[in-house]
Amino acid sequence: MKAYEVQNAWKIDSIVEIEREKPKAGPGHVVVAIKAASLNYRDLLTIEGKGGAKLPLIPFSDGAGDIVEVGQGVTRVKQGDRVCPIFFPGWIEGGPSAYGRMKALGGSAPGTLQEFMALDAEAVTPFPAHLSYLEASTLPCAAVTAWRALVDEGRIKPGDWVLVQGTGGVSIFALQFAKMLGAKVVVTSSSEEKLQRAKALGADALINYKTTPEWARAALEASGGAGIDIVVEVGGAGTLNQSLSCAKVGGAVVVIGLLTGVKQEILVPVIFGKNLRIIGISVGSREQFEAMNKAIAKHKMKPVVDKVFHVKQVREALHAMQAAGHFGKICVEFEK
Ligand SMILES: NC(=O)c1ccc[n+]([C@@H]2O[C@H](COP(=O)([O-])OP(=O)(O)OC[C@H]3O[C@@H](n4cnc5c(N)ncnc54)[C@H](OP(=O)(O)O)[C@@H]3O)[C@@H](O)[C@H]2O)c1
Repeated sequence: MKAYEVQNAWKIDSIVEIEREKPKAGPGHVVVAIKAASLNYRDLLTIEGKGGAKLPLIPFSDGAGDIVEVGQGVTRVKQGDRVCPIFFPGWIEGGPSAYGRMKALGGSAPGTLQEFMALDAEAVTPFPAHLSYLEASTLPCAAVTAWRALVDEGRIKPGDWVLVQGTGGVSIFALQFAKMLGAKVVVTSSSEEKLQRAKALGADALINYKTTPEWARAALEASGGAGIDIVVEVGGAGTLNQSLSCAKVGGAVVVIGLLTGVKQEILVPVIFGKNLRIIGISVGSREQFEAMNKAIAKHKMKPVVDKVFHVKQVREALHAMQAAGHFGKICVEFEK
């Protein structure tokens, strides 16, 4: 079988196609034929050597495919099921734990950029029937993170104001879920064209953060002055202070990303003065993935797949992600 590996150096252009023996399903395991995989910003960081992984590495956490073999004792899933691997194979349910987070696909464990993957039968989940493999391949990291941010941590209610930063994978899922759950959404972006695409998905207020660098003030105004109930904070150092300042008294700032850097000074009194809940999250559990899948199936929601490359063009796909011209997700597909 074919797999794709970061081999000699931490850079996109050292990813090469390799031949590997097709895995077999041991007791309690399944083999999944991967049909599609999706890219996350985290994969860029990992491939640049910023994730603490070891070479050589089969990258990517996200994918979707068919179960083609089940090992002894497996009853949860069966041959022919269409499934996604989960991001943390050891995090099935309940809150985060050091054990559950120990292994992550495409980092401390081999990732989805391979034609066949042997996985613990507990570490996969069937995906909604109306989704294609490409669409389903976007779910394990970006979608679960957005879902958890809004539902489990943000405790979203109809009528809440949500703010999403930029129009990448996590943010567009957060926009879609927030609209599905009856919230109002402010979207920030560097691009007018992307803001119009966000509007078509239901965004209620649009702010160009290039032409309006004080976007927090504009977000406050959009919310009628009271502030944002849930800020989906993916920007990191360059956005955190404005996230804190546009959050409503008693609101939540869910800290997810580091698109603009990792270090920043913050004004401590803003946090306690406004009684903010600041919650750091890393993806989520299978239980959260399954709850999200139910909602996606019920609402027949479709992930936004913006660009698709053949898996042999995975380097081009990663360069496209680096260029940040995408809206939603970039995917790669394996042979049909
Ligand atoms: N903690 C977790 O569990 C978790 C899970 C998933 C992702 N993440 C993190 O979340 C972040 C987003 O990941 P992703 O995969 O969704 O990324 P992505 O798809 O690559 O998103 C890139 C987009 O971010 C936007 N952006 C860049 N700088 C911005 C700024 N200053 N203000 C607002 N938006 C800005 C841009 O949107 P426009 O082009 O519209 O301007 C850009 O296109 C990354 O830092 C990633 O590491 C964390």
